Amino acid sequence: MPCNCCEMENNTFGEDEAKANLKDYRRKGPANQTKLILEAVRSLGLKNASLLDVGGGIGTIHHELLKDVAKEAMHVDASSAYLKIATEEAKRLGHEAQVKFIHADFTDVVDELPQVDVVTLDRVVCCYPNFRALLKAASSKSRTAIALTYPRETWYIKMVLSIMNFFQRLMNDPFRVFVHPVNEMEMVLNREGLRRVSTRKLFVWEMSLYQRKAVV
Ligand SMILES: C[S@@+](CC[C@H](N)C(=O)[O-])C[C@H]1O[C@@H](n2cnc3c(N)ncnc32)[C@H](O)[C@@H]1O
Repeated sequence: MPCNCCEMENNTFGEDEAKANLKDYRRKGPANQTKLILEAVRSLGLKNASLLDVGGGIGTIHHELLKDVAKEAMHVDASSAYLKIATEEAKRLGHEAQVKFIHADFTDVVDELPQVDVVTLDRVVCCYPNFRALLKAASSKSRTAIALTYPRETWYIKMVLSIMNFFQRLMNDPFRVFVHPVNEMEMVLNREGLRRVSTRKLFVWEMSLYQRKAVV
């Protein structure tokens, strides 16, 4: 499904980037921040779970979780190049029948998607200006938990990203990277009935796992 966001993401996350990511994944396995998401999801102790990976890139999260935790996955991505590589890799791993690939801005198609056990957003909120809409949409699809990574709110990350955005502006490229306020992201998720159960930090990235409060 075409969208404005898709055009921008297709330009930013194109074929060369996707191929380079796949090469890294095959050589070294999941990136460090993705490992934190995988560990967080595995800590829930789920089996045969359903998964929704928003902005899943080359599909690392479902490639990995379909080995033990998940039985089916949806991968919604605004980049057609990433989706193509993710589909080929899923085929190579024998997971093709278990993954539904959707080319769209997730916020445009959210109402058409079923609920799942776990929603993941690995380095995605930082690509999207309206983090409230994105997180609200993600929450509405999660029965059990959401795990996400985002840039840490530190002075050095803010400085580097504002330099990157300055050059993006110079090149007339509309893509921007955002350091969204962590407490406001948490407020959105809390309002949707999710509470933070763990947070882990790397130099650049932070990972938080949110779980749905039990209904009593
Ligand atoms: C920095 S990449 C991260 C890819 C992958 N999750 C990873 O960590 O390697 C951001 C991804 O999010 C996707 N994306 C950003 N906003 C999106 C949206 N609103 N709906 C769907 N995909 C989105 C982009 O197309 C891209 O694949």
